[in-house]
Amino acid sequence: MKTILNILSTLLIILFISCGGKEEKKKEGFSYEKKTTTETKASTETKKEPASKTVDLSNKGIGPITSLSLDATINQDVANHGADVFKKMCTACHRADKKFIGPSPKGIMERRSPEWVMNMILNPVEMTQKDPLAKALLIEFNGAPMANQNLSEEDARAVLEYFRTLK
Ligand code: HEC
Repeated sequence: MKTILNILSTLLIILFISCGGKEEKKKEGFSYEKKTTTETKASTETKKEPASKTVDLSNKGIGPITSLSLDATINQDVANHGADVFKKMCTACHRADKKFIGPSPKGIMERRSPEWVMNMILNPVEMTQKDPLAKALLIEFNGAPMANQNLSEEDARAVLEYFRTLK
């Protein structure tokens, strides 16, 4: 009689443990699934919008330019000078109309604030270290850094005016 009772209670204990175990497993499976769905969502979001296409007109970037307002009309003389500077200093990595080692500046004024563009030209190292958008760009361009070309503020401003003509 004692042995039967012993066997019965052992069986009960085993039953109890296995049930508890099963429930735990289920829970794990559920939270794992949840995690993967959020992960896939995040990765499709980044796929949809690479940093070079992101529109962020409120971010002024980090650097010497804190405020800059543009005239409604483009100053063609300044833009021509900017085109010359761009040809000399930037075409090693940038093409006006297509992605090269760096992104194409075409339509950039619709994506970025003028201050951000100026700071990216004048202060690219700090920008790619601290500015979230520039950081994301550096990742998109496989860690190829944007070189500081030591442009004067005036030349950088002229390049910006030239960028305004690229639509
Ligand atoms: C050595 C290559 C190189 C040179 C030279 C270079 N750039 Fe870049 N530039 C890049 C790369 C690469 C990026 C993308 C960000 C990164 O990876 O650091 C970039 C990003 C930029 C951006 C941001 C573009 C965007 O879509 O937001 C601007 C603006 C820019 N460069 C302007 C210039 C100008 C103006 C010059 C010339 C004075 C210049 N760059 C010279 C490589 C270069």
